[in-house]
Amino acid sequence: MSTLVVVGVQWGDEGKGKVVDLLARQADIIVRFQGGSNAGHTLVVGGKKTIVRLIPSGVLHAGKVCVIGNGMVIDPATLVEEIDALQQQGCLADLDLLKISETAHLIMPYHKAIDLAREKRRGEAKIGTTGRGIGPCYEDKMARVGIRFVDLLDETLFEAKLARNVEEKNTYLRTMLDEPELDFRTIFDTYCQLRERLRACIGNTSRYLHDAIRSGKKVLFEGAQGTQLDVDHGTYPYVTSSNTVSGAVCAGAGIAPQHIHSVIGISKAYATRVGGGPFPTELFGAEGNQLRQAGGEFGTVTGRPRRCGWLDTVVVRTAARLNGVESLALTKIDVLSGLDTLRVCTGYRYQGQDYDEVPASAHMLEHLAPVYEELPGWTEPLTDIRSLDALPTNARRYVERIESLLDIPIKMISVGAGREETILIRPSFF
Ligand code: GDP
Ligand code: IMO
Ligand code: MG
Repeated sequence: MSTLVVVGVQWGDEGKGKVVDLLARQADIIVRFQGGSNAGHTLVVGGKKTIVRLIPSGVLHAGKVCVIGNGMVIDPATLVEEIDALQQQGCLADLDLLKISETAHLIMPYHKAIDLAREKRRGEAKIGTTGRGIGPCYEDKMARVGIRFVDLLDETLFEAKLARNVEEKNTYLRTMLDEPELDFRTIFDTYCQLRERLRACIGNTSRYLHDAIRSGKKVLFEGAQGTQLDVDHGTYPYVTSSNTVSGAVCAGAGIAPQHIHSVIGISKAYATRVGGGPFPTELFGAEGNQLRQAGGEFGTVTGRPRRCGWLDTVVVRTAARLNGVESLALTKIDVLSGLDTLRVCTGYRYQGQDYDEVPASAHMLEHLAPVYEELPGWTEPLTDIRSLDALPTNARRYVERIESLLDIPIKMISVGAGREETILIRPSFF
């Protein structure tokens, strides 16, 4: 096996960054294939925290190649900031190690302005986006008016495309959203400067990955967001604007399906969600607060408090089927220490009928009743534990029960944010 896909199986923030950083040790190339700087992936190594938004989470390892795939939407200013910050801490000294797809789309200032203005107008019904212009950028891609890195490289073409887009977006901003217009020249000059910082990294990453896989290189594909945020399979319309499932690797990195060899799903030992939308096992008041405080559940991108709740195996089961998940990494189990009784959602009930997968209707999801199973808790802290046998009996029982409810082996248990704070049950992943 030479490729492995890592995907979040809940609503994002499952700890994908930590897991990818750990697995990157065994990989040669780490690739992001969808999303943009709506992602915030946290890596903690030697007590030092690094948050990456666009650059793959393998970047802390010397000599690994990081690829920004064509399925991503890139704000070049954020990317340059991220490169600068990483270089300041001694990473990515050789920019040859960063490859940016020439067909990835650029997030422009009007995308962010439209994202923010629309959210403001939606009021209570807002999606709760990260405000990074993700949705409007993917809209332009599908409408075939987006600007790609390859366009940025051709200054005359870029100028013409940008002029057309700024004129149209300014009309929309002024007349539909009651927002100020943006200045073409300022955007043009800024993006031309940013282009020079990134020029050497831009190229045909699809061909590069094809050749690398054919020559036996180990490639790790890093998902962003989570399956319940997938634009087709998530809790629409409270989703992001890309496909987050493993199948999106093919289109988003430009590789053929036979090159996807295995898929690992990342799940927290409980559940969180940031932004609006249905969340059947959400806990409110003191119980939700306890999980939020113990888990440090505040958004890495926006700082917003994350909504917290019990583990929902219906959500994970649905994601496992959609992604072809063969094994799981269970994260943040240490956060559950000290709770008397734990609850796990095993199914849904709605108008007398039982459901074992997430229904399509957001209305139904808002109103159904989760069916819970109770399990006894434990008091011991788990962060220093490195083997399954050393876990307190009830923690081990919790893990085993999740495995049997989902019928998927758990290969890794994360007991703290640090790279080493991990129980590796089956240490080989490729
Ligand atoms: P991602 O978006 O999936 O990469 O996840 P985030 O980085 O947004 O959020 C996960 C948060 O939990 C980060 O602050 C991590 O440092 C932290 N984290 C990851 N794994 C663990 C764990 O096992 N225990 C604890 N306590 N924190 C963890
Ligand atoms: P990582 O990769 C958690 C959520 C937003 C909002 C919805 C749409 O760190 O797990 P968008 O800005 O994408 O249009 O927002 O999706 N969202 C995330 N939630 N983790 C993420 O990424 C997210 N990226 C987007 O909060 O509800
Ligand atoms: Mg995150």
